[in-house]
Amino acid sequence: MPEESVKSTGPLAQLSGITVRFENHATGAVTTILENFNLECGDGEFLVIVGRSGCGKTSVLNLLAGLLDPQAGQVQVKGKSPRAAREHLGYMFARDALVPSRTAMGNVEIGLEVRGVGRAERRARAHELMVRLGLAGAEDRYPWQLSQGMRQRVALARTWALDPDLILMDEPFAALDAQTREAARVQFLDLWERRRSSVIFVTHDLTEALLLGDRVIIMGPGGRILENIVLPFGRPRDSSELPYTNEFRVLERKLHALLAHEQEQDQELMAPV
Ligand SMILES: Nc1ncnc2c1ncn2[C@@H]1O[C@H](COP(=O)(O)OP(=O)(O)OP(=O)(O)O)[C@@H](O)[C@H]1O
Ligand SMILES: [Mg+2]
Repeated sequence: MPEESVKSTGPLAQLSGITVRFENHATGAVTTILENFNLECGDGEFLVIVGRSGCGKTSVLNLLAGLLDPQAGQVQVKGKSPRAAREHLGYMFARDALVPSRTAMGNVEIGLEVRGVGRAERRARAHELMVRLGLAGAEDRYPWQLSQGMRQRVALARTWALDPDLILMDEPFAALDAQTREAARVQFLDLWERRRSSVIFVTHDLTEALLLGDRVIIMGPGGRILENIVLPFGRPRDSSELPYTNEFRVLERKLHALLAHEQEQDQELMAPV
């Protein structure tokens, strides 16, 4: 039976009617970041969020991770509150946040250790992931002995080792140079193809958005969803060929235009009259 027909179709993660406001304690000014914001991520869906800086992308991930409480609305992950669903979640940031006193292997094992997985199994799982991510031979190195690209892959292995149903990724490859980013992305995609967890992935890189996602949403001010694009590309994807296809280029241009248009509107709003 094809894999798709076995999968449940209900949303794995859901934000409904969300309002998030931040108060500036010095001035008392209140800024509304998200207003009646709604979002669903299906089981096994790879959802990419793009949008200009400050529109609330990280806040959306923080809501799903239970790190931020909304003033109104509901957040559910697997039908539970985010805190109750924590064991199903993985969160990967733009900066790796590895534990400096632990080796690469020690970092990958952290979550498994907390879960009480035995040493031999921990090692085996961590080792397998590290090999897949091109980190063989780096197991005993400390974070300061690793390149930024390697550190991000260690962080990815650490997140993946827990086999989460939902992975939140906040510009995970943004700190890498173009070539390293491309390599990390290919390895990540390869890993993901083997176990299609739901992913909510934030990026400013439109090529990355189109290469990875099943669906891309563009967020605007107040969390308004300006565009929701279901991508027509099949899987597995050939990252070396796909960006050169006409269909890809047309979509890439469309995304660029939508974001540029929004930027212009912003500038008009801010311009003195
Ligand atoms: N804890 C906080 N206290 C006050 N304001 C905050 C807090 N966290 C976020 N903000 C503000 O909320 C807005 C949205 O922030 P958020 O980090 O979600 O944006 P973003 O879309 O991820 O931006 P970027 O692309 O730059 O990462 C910003 O204006 C930010 O300054
Ligand atoms: Mg952010």
